[in-house]
Amino acid sequence: MKRLAQLKEEGLAKIEACRDLNVLQTLRVLYLGKKGPVQEVMKMMKELPKEDRPAFGQQVNEIKSLFASMIEERKQVLEEEAIQKQIESEKIDITLDGLKPVIGTIHPLMLVQQEIEDVFIGLGYTVADGPEVEMDLYNFERANIPKDHPARDMQDTFYINAEELLRTHTTAIQTRQLEKCAKEHALPIKVICPGKVYRRDDDDATHSHQFIQCEGLVIGKDIRLSDLKGTLLFLAQKMFGESRTIRFRPSYFQFTEPSVEVDVSCHVCGGKGCSVCKGTGWIEILGAGMVHPNVLEMAGIDSKEYSGFAFGIGIERVAMLKYGIQDIRNFYTNDIRFLKTFNRFE
Ligand code: PHE
Repeated sequence: MKRLAQLKEEGLAKIEACRDLNVLQTLRVLYLGKKGPVQEVMKMMKELPKEDRPAFGQQVNEIKSLFASMIEERKQVLEEEAIQKQIESEKIDITLDGLKPVIGTIHPLMLVQQEIEDVFIGLGYTVADGPEVEMDLYNFERANIPKDHPARDMQDTFYINAEELLRTHTTAIQTRQLEKCAKEHALPIKVICPGKVYRRDDDDATHSHQFIQCEGLVIGKDIRLSDLKGTLLFLAQKMFGESRTIRFRPSYFQFTEPSVEVDVSCHVCGGKGCSVCKGTGWIEILGAGMVHPNVLEMAGIDSKEYSGFAFGIGIERVAMLKYGIQDIRNFYTNDIRFLKTFNRFE
């Protein structure tokens, strides 16, 4: 009986003190398995008088089940501790600032292009596209600039081969649109054509061999110069402020007749004269005119029935005026500090 009490005390103390699940498992084998101190004590039963044996056996069994339940209890405590430890070690401190993903900004040239597109979509125009490697046919001939004509020299560019070149103006998209709409009997036409163009040019603060144009084309019955003027006045006021006025000056393009240069009253001084408008009160922003009858006829449109106007804006120039940018190269060097100033999201 003494040995039994000793066994009980010893076992419970060991279980109680156990801090490790693996050690606990060896204790389980030891106390509940086939070989161990409990079994040893069991063997002692034979030496007892017969009448004491049942009580002794019962006690051994009680100790055994006490060990079993104590081990189970301890196991749960240790498992719970292990989970807590893991949770503790995997804890994420959500009070720390996360890494902010860097959000890109829309390029200022795209902002201006989108703004122009919005103005014309609002007037019922569609937006057309075309290839940057263009056929001589659509870039020059259909724009009434035949082979060997000196007007080609002004837009001398990068030829890919004898027939193809990097387009020099988005007028090439317009000559394609004219042909397409004539074929599909889809007149009248109201379209704008934004895109990159390429010319042999100086690369300095105001010139680049590559830039973006947005040209516009309207063909219908009884379209007049006054329609062109009203349209461009609307555009100028949307882009540079409601109080802007415009003026036409005579000019020359092969594909329009008459042709004009269009000036907008200076948005900085309001027309009084300042450094931006070089003291004149006016800023030249685009070329335009009434589409030349030859251009219509070459595309298969009857110039006696239809007339229309076209205009071409340089996106870089508008962006420079609008945002007060001095050097065109800022647009192309991709300096994040420059681009970030056009962030609309912060
Ligand atoms: N294509 C001309 C240019 O690149 C611009 C323009 C377009 C002029 C349409 C008149 C009409 O300079």
